[in-house]
Amino acid sequence: MEKKEMIYEGKAKKVYSTDDENLCIVSYKDDATAFNGLKKGTIAGKGAVNNRMSNMIMKLLEKEGVATHYVEELSDRDTVVKKVKIVPLEVIVRNISAGSFAKRYGVEEGIEFTEPTVEFSYKNDALGDPLINSSHAYALGLATKEEIEKKKKTALKVNEVMKKYFYTLGIKLVDFKIEFGKLPDGKIILADEISPDTCRLWDLKTNEKLDKDRFRRDMGGVEEAYNEVFRRLTNE
Ligand code: TMP
Repeated sequence: MEKKEMIYEGKAKKVYSTDDENLCIVSYKDDATAFNGLKKGTIAGKGAVNNRMSNMIMKLLEKEGVATHYVEELSDRDTVVKKVKIVPLEVIVRNISAGSFAKRYGVEEGIEFTEPTVEFSYKNDALGDPLINSSHAYALGLATKEEIEKKKKTALKVNEVMKKYFYTLGIKLVDFKIEFGKLPDGKIILADEISPDTCRLWDLKTNEKLDKDRFRRDMGGVEEAYNEVFRRLTNE
């Protein structure tokens, strides 16, 4: 399968049309942004790590009964996916306090929750992806009540599968963000990516950050962190 025209360019990926109107090719870039595009940079090799990690996780999730957009990995950076319309609701699951949760509620990072939390963000760059509750999402027509409940349930399932898997790699899954997309028949499936850009991953023993927070917070060792996650995933 070959790329035809670029139909969309986001901050971290380009999307191309193909000869099949139901399929796209996503191409992962090394570009990195944070704080709604305010901070810009490059993380060498990130595109390849994120592409391959996302595909591995999507395949694992499919095996566990979660429908995803994944179709076929073409190369280090390129993957065929089902063409969807992205639902502008980001779903965030947290197992441990960090990031905006710690900041909003004035608590330290690293508090392990008794139960995972689920929250939504309204995916809208102009507004800075604000936190949104279910009734507001419904009021804005972003999803039906059933779809909102299904997204929460699927996000918690994704959390269970990923948490267990990362644990076997010596990694704590602190939190993550996922996005869903709608197929032409209305079916909603997991889309976008699952990578160190979209998850917080801490080393099980040392709590060392192995994710994009190293870039967001200018901690150094950014490429090394992405490569370390990839090394553990592939056992290389
Ligand atoms: P937060 O603590 O900044 O709200 O982030 C929660 C999770 O969502 C974290 O794993 C990083 C991920 N995330 C994204 O994937 N994209 C974003 O734009 C932001 C702000 C967070």
